[in-house]
Amino acid sequence: MQNAKPMSFLRLGLVGAGGYGKRHIAALDALGGRSNARIVAAADPFSEKLLQLEEKGIRGYASMEQMLDGEKLDAVIVAAPIPRHFSMTKLALHRGLHVYLEKPPVPLIQQLDELIALDGEERVCVGFQLVHSKPVQQLKQIIAKGKLGKLVSIRGGGSAPRQRAYYTRATWAGRVTLHGEPVFDGPMTNALAHVLQNIMYLGGAGENAYASPREIRAELYRGAEIESYDSSCVKGFLDSGISFFFAATHASKEIIPHTLEIRGTRGWARLEGETISSSLPLDLPAKDSGELPLPGNVLNFLRNLQGETDIPCVRLADTRGFTLTTNGAWVSSGKIHSIAPKYKNSYTVNDDPGVNVPGIVSLIHRGIESGMLFSETGTPWAVPGDTCDASTLYSLNLEETLNAAPFA
Ligand SMILES: NC(=O)c1ccc[n+]([C@@H]2O[C@H](COP(=O)([O-])OP(=O)(O)OC[C@H]3O[C@@H](n4cnc5c(N)ncnc54)[C@H](O)[C@@H]3O)[C@@H](O)[C@H]2O)c1
Repeated sequence: MQNAKPMSFLRLGLVGAGGYGKRHIAALDALGGRSNARIVAAADPFSEKLLQLEEKGIRGYASMEQMLDGEKLDAVIVAAPIPRHFSMTKLALHRGLHVYLEKPPVPLIQQLDELIALDGEERVCVGFQLVHSKPVQQLKQIIAKGKLGKLVSIRGGGSAPRQRAYYTRATWAGRVTLHGEPVFDGPMTNALAHVLQNIMYLGGAGENAYASPREIRAELYRGAEIESYDSSCVKGFLDSGISFFFAATHASKEIIPHTLEIRGTRGWARLEGETISSSLPLDLPAKDSGELPLPGNVLNFLRNLQGETDIPCVRLADTRGFTLTTNGAWVSSGKIHSIAPKYKNSYTVNDDPGVNVPGIVSLIHRGIESGMLFSETGTPWAVPGDTCDASTLYSLNLEETLNAAPFA
């Protein structure tokens, strides 16, 4: 099956052909010849997800292992379920491949540290594509130029309503663990993870530096009938001394787009969706590759792979601050608090039911404005967490905590 003759283009294998993997197919299509790369094979245990790819000349395999045995590849794109990220990235690195690993990299800090140690040659690029989007790059430059003065706080969050079909689409959705593997699915660790990673990026003291959290306090809640959390808030200090706050939910029928608010001694700047506003007249630097975030990030990965080392990619080590925050949030919260039925109601979108916690979007807006955790506002269902020094966290056992306080 395999033609091992050297080709002039880079040969990519896609792991996870349905779901977000389809966006990677579209991203490579959008890049066309500029990528100097082709997806030549895809792995997915569900053969129907591979069928439509055959028309594009992409060979299908039932597993990543079979694909790696059957193909000579330069790199893999891992767009597979979160609980598989760790083993798949290890396998690819052991085979000497470059990896575009979808976010979040891995659920646990000890898994991330093991991968960082394995990835001495920095072959892994994590799919936090919004870090290199135009507005986030503009904010980074505004900060670097000192326009806001000395940084005081970075706060952000969002509300991304999710209904039942989101949780039933995959066995790992809404889970803390699956078959003993950590998942830690939820808005902070999955759908709105970009906002938290962007906080770490904007708080980093240098052009390509990322911040790391120190003392944090956090609260994890479930509104929907799931094992994992669907609402969270966390605040603390970054190693640079700046305070930070993040809050996100799926348990609302109202949307809050990705929001970031940066306050300095001279003024503030705010990103809502793709729009920047500020208390100061900002002559926004127009740093823009002209690409949409996903194709742009994939292109950066491919250029890196071909030796252009000055092209920034989010390395595994750049996600340590993010992972310490999510893991510290779990420790601080102590358990996932179920929101009692009297504090929530339901709604439907196209017959698909969702859970709505009235007032939660106001709590997120308020937190972004003031840095107040849900429990600090007098909200009756909110429970304060303990202080956790995330910088000293090296290991987390999700199952242990879950077993101590099972989903009821
Ligand atoms: N960067 C972004 O903005 C963004 C957006 C959405 C999702 N994602 C990420 O993409 C990844 C996948 O998420 P999703 O929502 O598409 O998940 P999904 O479960 O909906 O789809 C994953 C695909 O992987 C396949 N799969 C399952 N087990 C597999 C295995 N062992 N080997 C190969 N393929 C397997 C499934 O059949 C499915 O086609 C996650 O890490 C998610 O966070 C990133």
